[in-house]
Formats: sequence, structure tokens, C-alpha cells
Amino acid sequence: MARKRKTAARRTPARGSARAKSSAARSTRQDAIMLLKADHRQVEQWFEQFESSRSESKKSDLADRICKALTVHTTIEEEIFYPAFYEATQEKSLHHEAEIEHDGAKNLIAQIESSGPADDYFDAKVKVLSEMIKHHVREEEQRDGMFAKARESRMDLNALGEQLAARKAQLMGSAEADEETSTRRSARSSAHDPGAMARLARRTRGE
Ligand SMILES: [Fe+2]
Ligand SMILES: [Fe+2]
Repeated sequence: MARKRKTAARRTPARGSARAKSSAARSTRQDAIMLLKADHRQVEQWFEQFESSRSESKKSDLADRICKALTVHTTIEEEIFYPAFYEATQEKSLHHEAEIEHDGAKNLIAQIESSGPADDYFDAKVKVLSEMIKHHVREEEQRDGMFAKARESRMDLNALGEQLAARKAQLMGSAEADEETSTRRSARSSAHDPGAMARLARRTRGE
């Protein structure tokens, strides 16, 4: 999956990515921690909606959003925030444990992305992912956790906030491009299967 995202990112024209970067920087007044906490709140809301939903298509849509958002979030933390945190604080155990927790979440995200509500274990996988993320977010946000230590450090959280916002916009753009390509590919292959166009249309309408 990571390789696919990189390829899509390379396809993005340099001028487009510069524009995304500057508009993301302009539109955000969030520092790094505010931005990362806002991501946490958004995903928590989607996990709650998933839990109370009875509709398979809604669950599938929510799981998709959760997986994409968490993939982008963990990527910007690992590429930008965590290294800056480690360099500024030398907090080895906080840093290393957070990375290992990301690895566990990514494993489950890959399993969820390759299955769906028809899978008997789908709900269980999403539930366990939500518990893993709850634990991880608590570790990042608690008193004496990574974010508190980052605030006490000399990290430039405003500059990091801009970098995180720019990279997030770029990754989200790549994810959308990947999705469009796969939808177009499905439409092309559907031409040989009379029932497939109807299935694709239903999927597009979210049924
Ligand atoms: Fe986080
Ligand atoms: Fe994290």
C-alpha cells in the first residue's frame, strides 16, 4: 500500500504539490499538536458512528474513512512529528513505543482494508483497532505523554504544524487519486461483465 501511495505522490505535478503546500499552510493556524489532536477527535467520532451503525454500507464507508485517516495520520507523525520530537527531547521509550504501536495498528488496518462487512470478523477487527487507537491516543495526549513533553521542549510547533498540514494535504490528494484510478479500472473491467456495472453503480451510490 505504501508503495502505491508513493507512486501516486510521484505522479502529482510539482507545481500542484507546491500549490497544495502553500494553500495548506495558509489555511491552517493550528500548531502541530492542535492538528494531531483534531485528527484524533475525528477518528474517534467515526469509530463511535461505526459502533452504533446497523447498515453494512455505512460501516464499510466509515471503516474506509477510518483506515485512510489513520494511514495519513501515522505517516505524518512518523515522517515529521516523531523525528522532531525525538531529536528535541531524546525521549527514547516514548518515541519507540509510539512507533511500535503504529506498526500494530497498520497491520490491523491492512486486514480491514482487504475485507468488508461480509467478513464474519470485520466488526471485531474494527473494534480492536478502535481500542488500540484509544490506548495510543491516551499515551500521546496524557499528562507527561508525548504531546505534553513536546510542549515543554524547544520544538517549533507552529512550523511543524505547517509541515504536517502540507504533507497531510498531499497524502490525502494521493489517496483520492488512487481511489479514482481504481474506480475507473473497475468500470473498464465491468464492461465485460453485465452484472458488474450495476454492482459498481450501487457501490458508487453507497448502497
Ligand atoms: Fe496521533
Ligand atoms: Fe501516533
